[in-house]
Amino acid sequence: MEQYIITGGHELHGSIPISGAKNAALGILPATLLCSGVCRIENLPQISDVRNMLDILASMGVRIRYLNKNAVEIDTTHTQNVPTPYEMVRKLRASYYLIGALLGRFGKAEVALPGGCDFGFRPIDQHIKGFEALGATVQITEGGIVQVEAKDGLVGASIYLDVVSVGATMNIMLAAALIKGQTVIENAAREPHIVDLANFLNTMGADITGAGTDVIKVRGVEQLHGCTYSIIPDQIEAGTYLALAAATGGAVTVTGVIPKHLESITAKLSEMGAEIEEGDDTVTVRRDSSVRMRRINLKTQPYPGFPTDMQPQFGVLMSMAEGTSILTEGIYDNRYRYVNELRRMGAEATVDGRIAVFEGVEKLNAAPVHAPDLRAGAALIMAALCAEGTTVIDEIHYIERGYEDIVRKLKSVGAEIRLVEIPDGAALERAN
Ligand code: EPU
Repeated sequence: MEQYIITGGHELHGSIPISGAKNAALGILPATLLCSGVCRIENLPQISDVRNMLDILASMGVRIRYLNKNAVEIDTTHTQNVPTPYEMVRKLRASYYLIGALLGRFGKAEVALPGGCDFGFRPIDQHIKGFEALGATVQITEGGIVQVEAKDGLVGASIYLDVVSVGATMNIMLAAALIKGQTVIENAAREPHIVDLANFLNTMGADITGAGTDVIKVRGVEQLHGCTYSIIPDQIEAGTYLALAAATGGAVTVTGVIPKHLESITAKLSEMGAEIEEGDDTVTVRRDSSVRMRRINLKTQPYPGFPTDMQPQFGVLMSMAEGTSILTEGIYDNRYRYVNELRRMGAEATVDGRIAVFEGVEKLNAAPVHAPDLRAGAALIMAALCAEGTTVIDEIHYIERGYEDIVRKLKSVGAEIRLVEIPDGAALERAN
């Protein structure tokens, strides 16, 4: 088992290069199945979610060749449409994109229901509604396998999503790219990774317009071809390091970013008292650690609103800001499991359903904690880097799902963090 050992209480200074976007990569990799040819994907983050997705593709006969740490060549010429093993699929939520991609290419898919971080009930009814509208029949077996088939082929349709869903929007785009007629997705999600997937598909020869607005039109084409494509920078990775700089104080610049994607985050950091400076592809956050941050209220919403994937990181900021801050989770029913861990570090916070109230304290203290999920894990690293003393964080495999080279990147701005491997027996002893 691996842990992070973190000693906090220092300002951070320097710059951090941002990796490719996880949630764009996880849509783009299965999208390569829509062609029979070779795609070269660049700026691919080297994280466990991406490695797992590549393993799933390889299990289907797709040939993967790493060109360097962040670029792969994916040859889908010999893809076999075989059921994907549950053991592989359960590791990541994004495995549901295999359904849209396989349905689009082969008219048929069999994929186990996805896993992913546990934020309460995470249905896929809107994905299913979309596939059915295009003419597929969908069945979920008792063993949790989603079987989708279009015996008479798929035809474009108008689909109004009942909830704004990133996954359903991307999955319907995948299923519709190669079919007859035009598909219109209304009330579509507008996240940057939706635009990136549309740009990738268009580079493969698709005809998609409107991505980035709430109406996306997909005009089906006969064939898609291989291409070379570079993934956009990760909005949430960048946002996490900016929030961290505001939390510890100091000055950190994230490089290789699209500042526009970070506006909802930097606006809130500025409201809390941090100084923000934007360049063409950089954003810097500066804060004097001797002055406490100001309280704020915040609600997470679909893009361009404040992202739910930055909610735990802002919970940490609120736990140290002067006064009472109110945080409202607008997307998920249960994304506050990190608050118990923060309380162990001295935070004063209460949770009632989707609302958390933080009475800011002057300092957090070190404590042994565990990462309950990916972003919550990143938030606990932030808390540990602010706390006095040495914090041990367990269950860090969650964090490695989405942050490339996090230890090296943090050390490069002056953080005291190290990864240690401990024997499983020792972990058990500590847990008891
Ligand atoms: N929803 C439904 N029915 C559906 C689909 C979604 O009711 O068919 C609900 C969900 O329960 C949720 C809301 O709609 O309340 C939004 O869910 P969405 O489908 O947008 O989320 P997702 O596709 O499962 C992606 C990201 C998440 C991110 C959300 C929201 C990937 C692989 N995951 O999940 O990323 O939180 O969008 O932006 O793209 C993360 O990176 O840490 C992460 C959890």
